[in-house]
Amino acid sequence: MPRFDAVLFDLDGVLADTAHIHFAAWRRLGEELGIHLEPTFEEKLKGVDRMGSLELILAHGGVTRTAEEKRVLADRKNGYYTAAVAEQTPDDLLPGARRVLEEARDAGLKIALASASRNAPPLLEQLGIAPLFDAIADPAAVKAPKPAPDLFLEAARLVGVAPDRCLGIEDSVAGIISIKDAGMVAVGIGDPTVLTRADYVVPTTAQLHIGDFL
Ligand code: G6P
Ligand code: MG
Repeated sequence: MPRFDAVLFDLDGVLADTAHIHFAAWRRLGEELGIHLEPTFEEKLKGVDRMGSLELILAHGGVTRTAEEKRVLADRKNGYYTAAVAEQTPDDLLPGARRVLEEARDAGLKIALASASRNAPPLLEQLGIAPLFDAIADPAAVKAPKPAPDLFLEAARLVGVAPDRCLGIEDSVAGIISIKDAGMVAVGIGDPTVLTRADYVVPTTAQLHIGDFL
């Protein structure tokens, strides 16, 4: 009997080559506010939702803004991001992404998305992988964002699978913490010295093979 009944995927940096596009949009906004973001800041923003990211950036720059100003700034960043991803096609999937989804489907596993991104549903369509998903967890429908476990628990609930029968795949520190605190097995995509709480780490999606975990 396989160890899992579902695979829960993050999107940005796992299936879509968009993590650096989010960061480029934040850097642009940061420069406009006089806040320079070092390349190392990208790791801190991965998996963190839009307003949470803005808060980290403002705190980093020692800049204070009202709630209304923050809403406008977050919208501006989202405009930069959506303009940059507007032309994405299936060619922009990360190498191995479609194969990994097909491996999960062929193994009879449920497939759900657990992405913090409000832009995830249209991006899945653009990338041509939406039909491979059984469910998409809505980040607006859960109480606490990553690193809280809520979004991964919601994804598991949507496909009707107990957390301990779920494999979660993530490229962010925040996301790996969510998966582990949800009581699931975590596969990190990236650097094992960064994704220290992951149960397994592979360098890129191209090296991820679902069969290795069944
Ligand atoms: C993902 C990305 C984050 C991004 C978040 C919200 O988790 O890793 O960098 O901030 O989604 O994305 P959104 O598209 O809703 O602004
Ligand atoms: Mg990610």
